[in-house]
Amino acid sequence: MKIIVTGAAGFIGSHLCEKLLEDEQNIVIGIDGFIGPTPSPLKVLNIGTLLSHPRFTLIAQDLSSINLRELLKDADVVYHLAGMPGVRTSWGSEFESYAVHNISSTQQLLEACKDASIQQFIYASTSSVYGEKDGKLSETMEPAPLSPYGITKLTGEHLCRVYHTTFHIPTVILRYFTVYGPRQRTDMSFHRFIKQLLTKQPITIFGDGTQSRDFTYISDCVKATASVLGNTAVIGKTINIGGKERASVNEVIELLETLTGTKAIRQYTASALGEPKHTWADLSLAEQYLHYHPEVTLQEGLRREIEYIRSAYARDLP
Ligand SMILES: NC(=O)c1ccc[n+]([C@@H]2O[C@H](COP(=O)([O-])OP(=O)(O)OC[C@H]3O[C@@H](n4cnc5c(N)ncnc54)[C@H](O)[C@@H]3O)[C@@H](O)[C@H]2O)c1
Repeated sequence: MKIIVTGAAGFIGSHLCEKLLEDEQNIVIGIDGFIGPTPSPLKVLNIGTLLSHPRFTLIAQDLSSINLRELLKDADVVYHLAGMPGVRTSWGSEFESYAVHNISSTQQLLEACKDASIQQFIYASTSSVYGEKDGKLSETMEPAPLSPYGITKLTGEHLCRVYHTTFHIPTVILRYFTVYGPRQRTDMSFHRFIKQLLTKQPITIFGDGTQSRDFTYISDCVKATASVLGNTAVIGKTINIGGKERASVNEVIELLETLTGTKAIRQYTASALGEPKHTWADLSLAEQYLHYHPEVTLQEGLRREIEYIRSAYARDLP
């Protein structure tokens, strides 16, 4: 299969390309414009092994500057992960880039799919579309995002739906719940916390740390995402991808203290605008359609992310 992965140098995209290439039948064309919160040198590190893979090609360009019709001409599947991530920075003047990368680029890609024979178009959405809700979040709940980021990602979902119903583009929407692990973006809390702990800096926590998340380890996320490939039963569906464990931010910091043997200096600041208090994924659909069962515990996942931070910043750490 010839598979296009947008956002291939990013956190989730780079892991997904590696996973897809485990199948010798797959050829992967990765696209990445090297934008967003993570600095380019870390993205180069993300795709280090991919670049020498014989069945991988990187197109290091923004989607808006690529001839998408030409690109999709003989492609079988599109995984659309490229986007401007992060809730906190989606307010104010940054919104424009969220609108461009999350809405316009998605529309352009879907438009180009009209003239191609794509078997699946898989869109990376987010739990941020739900907003503040009680209990488990199920895909049938009415979305009510709390942030401009969530609104742009929900708009991307709606675009998938109208291109599916109007032009029969075989779309699948996956809603990821806080993904973590090696290569996690630099703006995400675990990445910041671990780096701050290892460099003996104060840990900056938004709010009082009692907010909780359904944390998804990267290999679970990528396994679920790759399992969509060739599964015709999921076309037109929206499916939550959550993790094995939920925890509060304070509980995560306690775990990090144990794993690193370092006492954290905690600095609590104002709550971040646009973040729900809790997230909790209902995984019934993922279990039913993808036979998905997250496996990696928070303790093990954090241990692996600490290892990654130690190696990525080897030169800067004491
Ligand atoms: N990481 C999470 O916890 C999480 C949770 C929910 C949803 N998501 C979604 O998953 C996707 C991947 O997230 P991530 O954490 O890996 O982010 P990331 O920033 O690491 O990766 C996204 C990549 O897309 C690229 N990109 C963005 N716009 C582009 C464009 N117009 N053309 C070409 N390349 C472009 C960026 O350069 C970046 O490398 C995003 O769409 C995000 O909204 C992530």
